[in-house]
Amino acid sequence: MLKIAVCVSGGGTNLQAIIDGIESGKISDTRIVLVFSNNPNAYALERAKKAGIPAVCKSPKNYPARDDFNKDFLETLKSAEPDLVVLAGCMVVIPKEIVRAFPNRIINIHPALIPSFCGQGYYGLHVHEKVLERGARVTGATVHFVDEGTDTGPIILQKAVMVEQDDTPEILQKRVMEQAEWKIMPKAIDLIAHGKVRVEDHKVIIDGYDPQSI
Ligand code: GAR
Repeated sequence: MLKIAVCVSGGGTNLQAIIDGIESGKISDTRIVLVFSNNPNAYALERAKKAGIPAVCKSPKNYPARDDFNKDFLETLKSAEPDLVVLAGCMVVIPKEIVRAFPNRIINIHPALIPSFCGQGYYGLHVHEKVLERGARVTGATVHFVDEGTDTGPIILQKAVMVEQDDTPEILQKRVMEQAEWKIMPKAIDLIAHGKVRVEDHKVIIDGYDPQSI
């Protein structure tokens, strides 16, 4: 049984896709042991409550220094003893102490095709704004392992999504979520739960990888 801690900051639609995936059996041998939010107003906390999942909220604003928050964040994660930490719309920059505590055991969903439209400042709706500003015709989403850089870790799964000419950032965000994020995040967790994912030379190898099934 893969025990996962899910870190969130906002609406929590990716958390919901994980909860639904576990309920429907698309994700098997997996249990959410903790939902962690840095934002007390995150609707994701409601979703956790409705699903009966233990949830905690710790805001960096309530700590004298960022380091104090980081320490408590790490301790909170450790005390849940997860096998995998899942960043599902988590807007907190993960401190290196946490990356080092969970080597290749943290995954993140990014709303674009890495290495495009990623790195510092590329999060949430901003990513889709930049895609539209650049006039890109194709975008998508990426699930990757988290290393000490920003969106630089080994890529696990990606899925492309077409950009339409009259898209707004909000419309594009919704399409990327529906067509890519809510599919590849549950799929990546299921693959990890079944021991099919390994990292070699900063690249991910998936046993029996079938792009058509994503
Ligand atoms: C998602 O689009 C996710 O890919 C993105 O934030 C949104 C959260 O939505 N994450 C990032 O930008 C991380 N850099 P959700 O709270 O409804 O899952």
